[in-house]
Amino acid sequence: MDDLTTIRNEALSAVEKAPDLGALDAVRVAALGKKGSVTGLMKTLGTLAPEQRKEFGARVNQLKGEIEAALEARKSMLGASALAARLANEKVDVTLPARPEGHGTLHPIGQVMDELAAIFGEMGFTWAEGPDIEDDWHNFTALNIPPDHPARQMQDTFYLPPRADGTPMVLRTHTSPVQARTMLDKGVQEMLAEGGSLRVIVPGRTFRIDNDATHTPMFHQVEGLVIDRTTHMGHLKGCLYDFCRAYFEVDELPIRFRPSYFPFTEPSAEVDIGCSWKDGELRIGAGDSWLEILGCGMVHPRAIANCGLDPAVYQGFAFGMGIDRIAMLKYGIPDLRSFFDSDLRWLRHYGFSALEGVR
Ligand code: DAH
Repeated sequence: MDDLTTIRNEALSAVEKAPDLGALDAVRVAALGKKGSVTGLMKTLGTLAPEQRKEFGARVNQLKGEIEAALEARKSMLGASALAARLANEKVDVTLPARPEGHGTLHPIGQVMDELAAIFGEMGFTWAEGPDIEDDWHNFTALNIPPDHPARQMQDTFYLPPRADGTPMVLRTHTSPVQARTMLDKGVQEMLAEGGSLRVIVPGRTFRIDNDATHTPMFHQVEGLVIDRTTHMGHLKGCLYDFCRAYFEVDELPIRFRPSYFPFTEPSAEVDIGCSWKDGELRIGAGDSWLEILGCGMVHPRAIANCGLDPAVYQGFAFGMGIDRIAMLKYGIPDLRSFFDSDLRWLRHYGFSALEGVR
């Protein structure tokens, strides 16, 4: 037996015996790698006479091909049996119970905003928004609260650095500036000129310097605004009666309008709903107590004029309500600060599933 036959027998038998793909690759390297036995034979070619070189070269090449084919065959065999072994061992038990999936919940504020949209949407209101960072004019002056007006002290304002052009800026203290922004809107003014009626709600964030169990520096309000040529106080009362009864889901809910003062409405009122306290628990509905839930009134002619509309032609009503407050009342949430703690346990307890309670 010459070298070549020995190398051939050894290599082919090693291929046959290789137990797995790793061992098989080691066999390939031992025969065909840089320092492999077959490669070694190739290297001897240069030392042979031309006649021999041709004949021996052909035999080495053939051997190389033979070993490659054997490696390939063994490789696919080992691959197939490895797969068969996995298939035999790894079983999917389709009868196992599914793992519970963690569902998120809607924050009560989002839920209440959805409820507001549903209730006021049925009355023909659309949803409007405005910026959290507001200029002094929209937040105060347009709403009949000029610079030296004492009503500015009613709201503890976060003042921001003025704009480059000197415009004083604030974090809006209420959603009312969106009243001004809406009335000033060109499209809205055209719609009104054609005899249409403006009806918007404005849910959003508001900011005041305040922090205790019922006040946080950031809170939420919803503004309502109706403007056209004929809307009067009776419409205001009807709208808020319907809203309160729908929102608190109490048909005979007692509601009372108390005269009040806001610079941007005349006359102005605050609205209370009936309630009772039993063993420290609040019940909304007929009872011996009242809870204040919102401010409202007929939009002041000066606010209408400030926003580019003729108060001799246009009139309407507005209202403003704390969203967090009505969420606390409806869903029995005791501490406002917990709304903004981002505590998952709280969210799981007070949160809502996406379709719950939406009409
Ligand atoms: N902006 C008032 C506040 O934050 C609430 C309010 C009262 C809004 C009466 C109104 C309104 O639109 O008519 O205290």
